[in-house]
Amino acid sequence: MCGIVGYVGAQSALDVVIAGLKRLEYRGYDSAGVAVLADGGLAAAKKAGKLLNLEKELTDRPLPSGSTGIGHTRWATHGGPTDANAHPHLDNAGRVAVVHNGIIENFAALRAELAERGHDLASETDTEVVAHLLAEEFSSCGELAEAMRLVCRRLHGAFTLVAVHADEPDVVVGARRNSPLVVGVGDGEAFLASDVAAFIAHTRSAVELGQDQVVELRRDGVTVTDFDGAPADVRSYHVDWDLSAAEKGGYDYFMLKEIAEQPKAVADTLLGRIDEDGSLTLDEVRIPAAVLREAQKVVIVACGTAFHAGLIAKYAIEHWTRIPCEVELASEFRYRDPILDQRTLVVAISQSGETMDTLMALRHAREQGAKVLAICNTNGSTIPRESDAVLYTHAGPEVAVASTKAFLTQLVACYLVALYLGQVRGTKWGDEIRAVIRDLSQIATQVEQVLGTMEPVRELARSLARKNTVLFLGRHVGYPVALEGALKLKELAYMHAEGFAAGELKHGPIALIENDVPVVVVVPSPRSRSVLHDKIVSNIQEIRARGARTIVIAEEGDTAVETYADHLIRIPQTPALLQPMVATVPLQVFACELATARGNEVDQPRNLAKSVTVE
Ligand code: F6R
Repeated sequence: MCGIVGYVGAQSALDVVIAGLKRLEYRGYDSAGVAVLADGGLAAAKKAGKLLNLEKELTDRPLPSGSTGIGHTRWATHGGPTDANAHPHLDNAGRVAVVHNGIIENFAALRAELAERGHDLASETDTEVVAHLLAEEFSSCGELAEAMRLVCRRLHGAFTLVAVHADEPDVVVGARRNSPLVVGVGDGEAFLASDVAAFIAHTRSAVELGQDQVVELRRDGVTVTDFDGAPADVRSYHVDWDLSAAEKGGYDYFMLKEIAEQPKAVADTLLGRIDEDGSLTLDEVRIPAAVLREAQKVVIVACGTAFHAGLIAKYAIEHWTRIPCEVELASEFRYRDPILDQRTLVVAISQSGETMDTLMALRHAREQGAKVLAICNTNGSTIPRESDAVLYTHAGPEVAVASTKAFLTQLVACYLVALYLGQVRGTKWGDEIRAVIRDLSQIATQVEQVLGTMEPVRELARSLARKNTVLFLGRHVGYPVALEGALKLKELAYMHAEGFAAGELKHGPIALIENDVPVVVVVPSPRSRSVLHDKIVSNIQEIRARGARTIVIAEEGDTAVETYADHLIRIPQTPALLQPMVATVPLQVFACELATARGNEVDQPRNLAKSVTVE
């Protein structure tokens, strides 16, 4: 959601904070602001719109220089994206500044209370109440960290807060409940940020903040307590992402870079997990083998693209292990009283590890006694920390809002989990599974191969820039691929795009087919899925007979589709269940190029944020 940076040290706080915000702008981007402590006072600037607007404001009206500061990029929840609603928010005396990510659910009551005590609140946000409450508490306890603890105990909801006070010029204080916040510890300096990307240019030494903790940053170190002031255990870790991983590396967009990084991301996610004898070693899955052997059901919870990875995983898990598997949108799961017990294995898939709906779903599952395995890309994030076990994807930082390399690595992790369950349980363990593991180790090369043939896809995308609708069809694992292709197009090209199970066509969606409407069809392999293949070839004929322009994704050597394809996109031959790894790539390239052709912002599509830390 929003991006937060805090700094105390010897450098110019403004420079460090602005540079950090640039790396976090992907999280939210409808307004931005900064505050620095200087000359015994506090100076702030904030502006609606992109960070560029704030930078221009700072050039026109420079702030005094200081070495303690905070900053924020916002993705609006309470109150529209205006200068007044942008963070930081200050108290009436202008001595406290606070930035916030999340939602304070009881802000209306707190606001009314403050108004009664004579406070004058200037914005429509839920955040502003915190600045006023901190000022009140500080005036009685004289210490910002203590004031923060007292205020946090009164707040309901999810929040990350970072604040400074003019009377404590070398201190930044942060607090965390549910939303992400990490600490960076440098030599004589310290950082706070929503994401390590904001400070890896300065230090790769990080400290995880736990749930309901307050951190006080000073130049010579950090102190962490819980909301009651009891000292907390601090877990430090080394950030293994380097700076180049968080930069565009010569590409026009992060998304293009991340699409290109997929072969490496896939190979890295497999690295060290397949033994020479073709069996799997998943050290991180700390759930005892006996528990996995006894699991009677697998339930996958996730949102968006991660949910699509889960849908594909269902086919693999049920086929290879014969354990029933349900896949559910995390936002629906927790509100419907799902049936779970100690013999249910819940798999929570999340790139960011911070998606609120997925987090709430896993908490709900654990409360019912289920074991939770997280599949996650972000070390130290909340979802893996609250799960019983974690299988990390090694995609590296994904900055573009639209998920690409994280999706492919989520698929790899799902296949590994399915195969591992098969291995542990001995179900259907044999030649097929061994062959799949062999094929999986080839898949990075095949993704690379697909990337090398994308120019016709880009050309096709450009030619469709003026269309209003694109439909996507698939069967079996091609169905979630169709859903993912449609999601990418919606979020990037702002077009009407829908994915359907091809078998559902005649039950309604075929009425959407009219002259020259583009329909992308993901065709299963004729080798292993000949029945499905024949059926989808019939579907292609049916839509073509009604005027559709058919864009067919089919594997090399599939000649049966040639006659019916207006555009044919070839993908390498893979086992049926692994086909999404190669079939998704052209759809990512297609959506990215179409968005560019329509003049849209590829990395920061409108209304979206990379990490959805509110429900
Ligand atoms: C789409 C996209 C989103 C995310 C979803 C879940 O391209 O990126 O649909 O997949 O918001 O996010 P994570 O995986 O961080 O839980």
